[in-house]
Amino acid sequence: MLQNLTTITQFIIEEQRKSHAATGDFTGLLNDIVTACKVISNGVDKGELIGVLGSAESENVQGETQKKMDIISNDVMLKSNEWAGHLAAMGSEEMDDIYPIPEGYPRGKYLLVFDPLDGSSNMDVNVSVGTIFSILRAPEGVDKPTAADFLQPGTTQVCAGYALYGPSTMMVLTTGQGVNGFTLDKDIGEFILTHRNMTIPADTGEFAINMSNYRHWEPPVRRYIDECVQGKTGPRGRDFNMRWVASMVAEVHRILTRGGIFMYPIDEKLKSKGQGGKLRLMYEANPMSFIVEQAGGMSSTGRERILDLQPNDLHQRVPVILGSKNEVERVVGYHSEG
Ligand code: AHG
Ligand code: MN
Ligand code: MN
Ligand code: MN
Repeated sequence: MLQNLTTITQFIIEEQRKSHAATGDFTGLLNDIVTACKVISNGVDKGELIGVLGSAESENVQGETQKKMDIISNDVMLKSNEWAGHLAAMGSEEMDDIYPIPEGYPRGKYLLVFDPLDGSSNMDVNVSVGTIFSILRAPEGVDKPTAADFLQPGTTQVCAGYALYGPSTMMVLTTGQGVNGFTLDKDIGEFILTHRNMTIPADTGEFAINMSNYRHWEPPVRRYIDECVQGKTGPRGRDFNMRWVASMVAEVHRILTRGGIFMYPIDEKLKSKGQGGKLRLMYEANPMSFIVEQAGGMSSTGRERILDLQPNDLHQRVPVILGSKNEVERVVGYHSEG
């Protein structure tokens, strides 16, 4: 057992060696992200013992009341990743503007965007939360990046991943060569490769959507869910199961484990608030779409492939429909039928 362990660092170094351009910069960056996630995991674990449950008195740029742990996790990500010289700037759900690398630290060639604590409404009820991140290249020759430099389509991501703080803490990531999962062994403080080459089955009998929004949905989404709910005697001729954790990380992880479809579609209520969706393109939809596609799944707004979207704002929101290929294709088909 012991002599066969592969740590996340070893895995990444070996993966990078295969690409001749590797300089060690990327491995260093990933190590700092891993450290940040271990620190966040520790905070999430301790919970009320260290007084990190509950809300802060602030609101973020999304108009959400921030949880104490949203702010702490954001800070941990910044502090862990600002000093080493791998990054030119960072962007986060919890910050209005981009975070340039402070004077006094070297600047590097990558940009990092993250959702420091995904599903943070679950913190106080002791249900799984996570951290989502996406690594982009800073445009060449740009010394001090602006927010506009972050607005690259998801297809340009160098790496995307998430940490899931659940019964086990896990890290799942892709650099465009498949998806691999690592479990944190807290005794030795290392993420160990436990889920090699994760893949999403093309078919599924499980959907995830917040049903309380039913009355606001567009007709194609209603049609799809209506058909699922009708079960064996309906047009699909089979029964479906439903899950809704309200942590995208947990939903995507379930889909990577046993298949499924996850939807946070556009609806009339979101439109009336001027929003293009609920989930954020840069630090939720894009990284998760990269992972899902790399695992053989599909990810769409219902009308377009998410990874092809040209972002127009760091905090842009989009509809998200992702998971098992045949089901996502079906929902996309319903959209194109009108
Ligand atoms: P966050 O906690 O980072 O703001 O993200 C919450 C997101 C996502 O994780 C989840 O799928 C969705 O919001 C839940 O939304 P509802 O509360 O509307 O179900
Ligand atoms: Mn939030
Ligand atoms: Mn989130
Ligand atoms: Mn969040």
